Order: sequence, then structure tokens, then C-alpha cells
Amino acid sequence: MCGIVGYIGQNDSKEVLLNGLEKLEYRGYDSAGIALLNENGLNLFKVKGRIATLRDKVDENVHATMGIGHTRWATHGEPSVDNAHPHQSASGRFTLVHNGVIENYQDIKHDYLQGVEFKSETDTEIVVQLIDKLYQEEQNTLESFHKAIELLNGSYAIALIDNQDNETIYVAKNKSPLLVGLGNGFNVVASDAMATLKVTNQYLEIHDKEIVIVKRDSVLIQTLDGTVLEREPYTAQIDASDIEKGTYPHFMLKEMDEQPIAIRKIINEYQDENGELTLDEDIRAAMQECDRIYIIAAGTSYHAGLVGKNLIEKLAGVPVEVHVSSEFSYNTPLLSEKPLFIFISQSGETADSRAVLVKIKEMGYPALTITNVPGSTLSREADYTLHLYAGPEIAVASTKAYTAQIAVLAILAADTAQIKGVDLEFDLFQELGIVANAMDVLMDQKEELEQITRSYLATTRNAFFIGRSLDYYVSLEGSLKLKEISYIQAEGFAGGELKHGTIALIEKGTPVVALVTQEQVNYSIRGNVQEVVARGANALIISMKGLEQDDDAFVIPRVHELFTPLASVIPLQIIAYFAALHRGCDVDKPRNLAKSVTVE
Ligand code: AGP
Repeated sequence: MCGIVGYIGQNDSKEVLLNGLEKLEYRGYDSAGIALLNENGLNLFKVKGRIATLRDKVDENVHATMGIGHTRWATHGEPSVDNAHPHQSASGRFTLVHNGVIENYQDIKHDYLQGVEFKSETDTEIVVQLIDKLYQEEQNTLESFHKAIELLNGSYAIALIDNQDNETIYVAKNKSPLLVGLGNGFNVVASDAMATLKVTNQYLEIHDKEIVIVKRDSVLIQTLDGTVLEREPYTAQIDASDIEKGTYPHFMLKEMDEQPIAIRKIINEYQDENGELTLDEDIRAAMQECDRIYIIAAGTSYHAGLVGKNLIEKLAGVPVEVHVSSEFSYNTPLLSEKPLFIFISQSGETADSRAVLVKIKEMGYPALTITNVPGSTLSREADYTLHLYAGPEIAVASTKAYTAQIAVLAILAADTAQIKGVDLEFDLFQELGIVANAMDVLMDQKEELEQITRSYLATTRNAFFIGRSLDYYVSLEGSLKLKEISYIQAEGFAGGELKHGTIALIEKGTPVVALVTQEQVNYSIRGNVQEVVARGANALIISMKGLEQDDDAFVIPRVHELFTPLASVIPLQIIAYFAALHRGCDVDKPRNLAKSVTVE
């Protein structure tokens, strides 16, 4: 959460910083600011709200060849101008932006900063005040920066400028993502390569507990003990156009539309020239050797994990447990003798999942990350990675990453089954191809789904989603999608569970969305629908071709029973999109949320 950007070069830095922050807005968007250093000193612009508001605030007559910027998702202190970054030390000499959480900020305040007057309620301000304090003894910025960083516990990506030095941006990182981009006569700092793709595609990875001294024509990476490190840059594999909306009004709509393309890309990437499934041999060995799989994920990725469990157990016969990452450390299950951990994460940066990864690596267990961002923290720190190939996902509501995650889990399950000698009764790539075609058909039915949204969800305060078997897992995802972007209180339930308590909430007109794609539960889920209709619910049945009945509101094309989540989730995504749009919500940047949840 939070995005940081920095520029030091020959040209005016304003546009690089503002453009970079616009690209990082998915990481948090409740307040923002930039600091520009020029011959007249430091120029600070901060606002509560979006980057567009910051743009209006920044004085276009101020020119500076270096600066730092920040877009915030509040953790300590409400969104406000005072709490917005950059933060300055009391003397005004040091200015800093930070992404992460300083866990020991109260201790530092108590031990080192008694008597210092703080302007904000943030954990971040103690870092800049501490540097200033240490400078009074050290009289050396780099030394003070080193010493301050050594005292910090928690997660941080930090960029600091000293207003007496227009040659250097000081950078440090631990647990929060940070890259340094290389240019000709300039260098940049960013939480994500997307922020600065317009100016460079050459990047240096920065690892935890490293300090970087960024100048116009050099970048020096050091460990905390001062050892200088050599590192080769890599070329960012994203195209600047991948992160533009193009003619779409919203990223979410674009990303929903891209789902069939992503599935076809996955089909191509995971087959060899003979059309056979191909996976890294080390991943194959890990899947063979383990006696139980533990899937760790959050939010939508957790929901994809539930579908993945079903696929892996049914096809490959390996037992699977799925755990919400934020709970795993306290509610750690009894582990099997040879566990394999699979981390599912679109961003590869989710702090809750990373905390589990760190823990299980300390215990010596193998880990596989399934992510859309190779090179992300979860990818780097796991033993193996499977790439989603979905292309950048910008909208906070995850859509194409969810379906890509399920498709890659299907590939992993089918591959493991084949290696174990299980004869699959279907051709996986053919079935995924059918799914991609069904997705095309469904995306063409937006108008019909918009009408359905108007009829069922126009004014409601709440909604329920029910399903059985795989449909239950999709119900959870459908309800998350609806609530996170439209703010309709929506909950997903196993069809049979509603009558154990929640049915008490059903009133006249309460929308209940029921999924019917699984033949073996067709009649039982329809029975549950009758139960809620008898109590006044407005039932919206989404069934699959072959199982449909006359009153069903929407019928999805027929796909293989194991892969129905890939198709049935599409109408739920579209309904959520229109519900949010009709209510005037900010579809791509819903309130209180951020795309990449990098705090625990
Ligand atoms: C989904 O729409 C959400 N934005 C959220 O639940 C997300 O899936 C979750 O935060 C996990 O993110 P990750 O996949 O990047 O780890």
C-alpha cells in the first residue's frame, strides 16, 4: 500500500513524479504529495485526495531536477494534508516518503525524540525526525541515514532528500517493494516499474535491508554494514500501453474483457511444440514429493485457491488445505510430513502472505508462488514460480487475475495427474479453449446483464449469493466483487447453510443470486432458492446451459463441470461493475481499498 516515486536528472522532475504517482494510485489514493528540490530550496505540495487534486495544487512555475512523491493508503493517522507524505524533519532539512509500517515507532519516539514537536500522526514522521536528530551528532547524511535505518523494525520503502544536497536521493527497503530505474543522465525510484515505464525499462531490484545512493549518473547499492554490492539491471517486461485504459471507461471493464485473451495466453505458455502440457521439472518434482498442499492466499486469490483445491484433489489426488494468509500464523494447522506451500497472489506483494512465506521458509519447507508479477517479493522468495500471464491488473477489483489463477491451478492439477499416471478423461487445453470462447460470449452479453443489475440490485442495501460445491466458492467471489466496488452489503453462502441462521435476514425483495452449474446439486440448490423465495426473496438464478429452467434469469454457455467457475464468475463480475456504476461509485478505486496490500 502507498506508492513512492523519485527522480533525479537533468530535466524538470514534476511530470515524471506526477505521472508516476498516477500509475501508482492503485496502491492507495487517500492523499498525496511531492517535494521538489531546486536552487531556491525545497517546495512541498500535499493534498488530501487524488493525484488529480495534487496536479492542480502543484505550482507549474516551480522547476526542479530532483524530487520525491507519494500516494497514500492511511495506516497511522486519518487521510489529511498533515498526514500526507512527504514528511519533513523539524529543522526542515530532511524530507522523506515512506511505504510500509514502522512497528517500533513509539519506542523510537520515546528513546530518541523526546521534546521533538510532531506535525502528523504517522509512523513515518519519526523516521525523518530521527535522521535529523542523528545528523546533529554525525554531521553526515549517509551515516545518519544508515543509523536510522538500522533502528527501524517493520516494513519500509523509503526515499529521502537532504535540502543541502541536490545530488542525491537516499533510498532504503525492507519488506515493501522498491526498484531503481536507470536512465541516461537520470535515475528514478519507484514502488513499481509501471510508475516510470514512460522514462525507462531498465531496473535494478533492491533487496531487503539494502541502502541505495541514487545520483544523476550513478546508483550505489550497499548492505546495512556498508558493503557495496554489484547488481545487473533487468528489462521490465511490461509495455507502457498495457497499463493504459485505452478507449475503456474503466480498467475493470478492460480487464474483464481481457479474460479470454489471458486464458488463451496461458494455454499457449503452458504447452510445448507437440501440444503437451509443460511445466518446470522442479515444480513437477515438488508436486510428486509432497504429501499435502497448503494453499495460502487472501481475498480473491483465496477464492481461486478454493477452486484450486477442488481441481488438485479431484485430478491429482493430492490432499489440499486452503488458508487465509492473515490467519495462518495464529491458526497454524498440524502440518503433514512433506508439505508443499502454494502462495497465490496477483501482485506477489501481499504482506499477509509474505509473512507466512517467511515463516515456512524458516521451517525449511518448499514454496511455489502463483503470481501475475514475476520478480515480485513472493516470487523471488519462493523456490518456484508459476506465472499467470494475465498482463497488468490495475483495477482494485481483481477479475482477470482470478480466472488466470484458476486456469494455472487447473494446469498444475492436470500436469500432476499426468505425471502420476492418471488418465484424464478430457483434453485440458481443449476444455480451456471452450472456456475462453464462453467468456467471449458472456462479455458480449453486458447489456442484458446491465438490465438484470437494474432489476435486481438498483436500490437494495444487501444481497446474498448462494451455491453448492464449486458454485459455493464462486458465490464467495461474486459477493466480494459486489461489496468491494458497489458497497452493497453482500455475502456468499453454501446453499445449505443459509437456513442455519442467515435466512433470518431475508425480507421481501432481498436479492439472492443463486448459481446452478453443478448437475449433482441442481435440485438441492433450487430447493434452497424455493426456501428464500417463500420468505420474500427476489431470486436471480444463473444456471448453465443443460441445467437451465424457464425462470432462470441468465444462462451461461456449457463448459466442463470442473471449470465452471471460469465462466460463472463473469456475469457476477459484470453485475458488480454495473451495480457500482449505477450507484456512482468509483469503479476502479473503491473507497478504503488499495490494489496491493503491503501491510499486515
Ligand atoms: C479482490 O478484488 C481484492 N482486490 C483483494 O481481495 C485481493 O485479491 C487480495 O488483496 C489479494 O491480493 P493479491 O492477489 O495481490 O495477493
